[in-house]
Amino acid sequence: MEVFVSRRLPREGLAALAQAGACSIQQWDSDEPVPRAELLAGVAGKHGLLCLLSDRIDKEVLDAAGPNLKIISTLSVGVDHLALDEIKKRGIRVGYIPDILTDATAELSVALLLAACRRLPEAVEEVKNGGWTTWKPLWLCGYGLSGSTVGIVGLGRIVPLAKLAEESDFVVVTCSLTPGTEGMCNKDFFGRMKKTSVFINTSRGAVVNQEDLHQALVSGQIAAAGLDVTSPEPLPTDHPLLSLKNCVILPHIGSATFATRSAMAVQAAHNLLAGLRGERLPSELQL
Ligand code: DGY
Repeated sequence: MEVFVSRRLPREGLAALAQAGACSIQQWDSDEPVPRAELLAGVAGKHGLLCLLSDRIDKEVLDAAGPNLKIISTLSVGVDHLALDEIKKRGIRVGYIPDILTDATAELSVALLLAACRRLPEAVEEVKNGGWTTWKPLWLCGYGLSGSTVGIVGLGRIVPLAKLAEESDFVVVTCSLTPGTEGMCNKDFFGRMKKTSVFINTSRGAVVNQEDLHQALVSGQIAAAGLDVTSPEPLPTDHPLLSLKNCVILPHIGSATFATRSAMAVQAAHNLLAGLRGERLPSELQL
């Protein structure tokens, strides 16, 4: 069996793959994304592919892989980078990583929420640039979490979205990106939010209409935003959202703890190995 691994992984993941002795491994051994041409060449004839959320696995890649490919194991819980219809048509199985990164991502969501509502990046900047002249009663005030209403988009289909936007002091978006959620947080959505409320997104950037978010932040329609995900990623450094003081943007680090990334890599390796052997996957996406 031959597999292609599309990025450098935490070493526990590659070790799990290598120690199984079940496959020969070809790897794009870099922290940077595999160039498209290398990906297309790398997957050719392979039985397994271990990929990342930044690899677009579409018809072209599947055609390049050819009929041997039986398992795609993605180092992510999100699967919006995979052409699932094409994958299903070809009878290829998909392993993904639910659960393992939940705690790390939840922690990051809270950190981002507090950073945005208590204006931490702005405050840090003021300390550095000499703006901190004295203690001032009205300076750098924000909105507190205590006693507030937090609306979580992605907890289940239990609250109409409009009601959630209208009633929440904090909106935290954690849902998957699907055709149904793409652009869901738009002008209408922000228009329903309170002027004092804070918007957080730790799911996928494309769930948000970023132009509408920019407008909502500039016009004071909402108080602040914290984004761990953007569209595109990376966000160009001259993007208008980056010039706003009331918008905190992180580089998609929701799951970035050493322990979480290591556990994700091991799980991705086990998914890949089980797929190669035709066994039950530790976590298989039902197509
Ligand atoms: C995922 O796994 O989909 C996350 O976005 C990575 O943090």
